[in-house]
Amino acid sequence: MSTHGAEVNWAVIGTGFISQSISDDLRLTPGARRHAVCSRDPERARRFAADQGFAVAHGSVSALLDDPTVDAVYIATPHATHAAIAIAALESGKHVLIEKPMAVNADQGRQIASAAAASGCFAMEAMWMRFNPAYRDLVAAARAGAIGEVRSVRASFGLPFGPADSPRWTAERASSTLLDQGIYPITLALDVLGRPSRIHATGRLWDDGVDLTVHTTFEYDDGRFAQLSASMVEYIEPTASVSGTDGWMTAPAPFWAADEFTTQKGPISRALTEPHRTQHERRGNGYVPMLEAVTLAIAEHRTEHPTHPLADSIATLEVLDAVRDSLSSPTARPKETR
Ligand SMILES: NC(=O)c1ccc[n+]([C@@H]2O[C@H](COP(=O)([O-])OP(=O)(O)OC[C@H]3O[C@@H](n4cnc5c(N)ncnc54)[C@H](OP(=O)(O)O)[C@@H]3O)[C@@H](O)[C@H]2O)c1
Repeated sequence: MSTHGAEVNWAVIGTGFISQSISDDLRLTPGARRHAVCSRDPERARRFAADQGFAVAHGSVSALLDDPTVDAVYIATPHATHAAIAIAALESGKHVLIEKPMAVNADQGRQIASAAAASGCFAMEAMWMRFNPAYRDLVAAARAGAIGEVRSVRASFGLPFGPADSPRWTAERASSTLLDQGIYPITLALDVLGRPSRIHATGRLWDDGVDLTVHTTFEYDDGRFAQLSASMVEYIEPTASVSGTDGWMTAPAPFWAADEFTTQKGPISRALTEPHRTQHERRGNGYVPMLEAVTLAIAEHRTEHPTHPLADSIATLEVLDAVRDSLSSPTARPKETR
């Protein structure tokens, strides 16, 4: 539960794409020491440690969790493994930062929260978008009435990471565009509109439950709404807009990592012709603001970060569960056979 000296000794679990990006950004994070890595393959762990300049390489998750020199772990493994690894890490006295989605459903999210409470360690889902300065500014402006009363959100994250029949999409790994990409547009809608009264979803699913493309509508009793799309097999313009009674704000692609947004407001002729651009600085691959905030929170012996507490992750997982229920309703599009 401690830190080693003035710096937090970070370890990364997994050696995939996101482990590289996070390790790059840990290098730029004040107070963070890039200390250890683990892979299921000891040789891969050694190569990763050598390339990234980590001091220690472990050949298994359990060896890493037994290492007393590790303060905090970044869990960068597939979704289906997050809850078990996070709970084991917390029980070993490690602080945890867990890749999004923190878990595959709300029940698992609550189990992580219980383990965190019992451990006294820091725990958070790595929802880096919420630490992105441009995103924070956009949400704060929307909440403060910069475009009047917020009435709707439109946001998409659709990128073709592989073909629909890719062997990488498996139920065992909890492959899901809803969990992987959909969590970003859904988080934006929850941040500016709150929890919806009704959720309708449709999309393209395999019969083993893997969802490839998901279109979701949130409805609110007062007529507000959100239209949210995600796909891991096709492009759906990855931008976002928030509209209100006095105008709208637009975040360019990729909206979750954008370093700017545009505000258009006022009478129609002015709104259409006089966009106002707000620009922010980008640090590293975009993860530095989150890594810096979490490293400081751990150094200050806090157990959560107010920007993204576990209760918010669980609330989002409840909404993702409701979207999944809607996808399986009798009126939903039939599932496809592999
Ligand atoms: N924040 C972002 O911008 C961002 C971007 C992409 C992905 N993600 C998230 O990052 C997570 C990883 O996604 P990914 O696509 O990078 O997955 P991945 O490449 O399949 O797995 C990442 C690494 O986890 C390790 N691993 C795989 N299966 C494991 C298991 N059963 N137990 C322990 N370790 C295992 C592997 O490292 P070894 O083989 O070396 O053990 C692998 O390289 C997902 O939750 C995803 O949503 C986030």
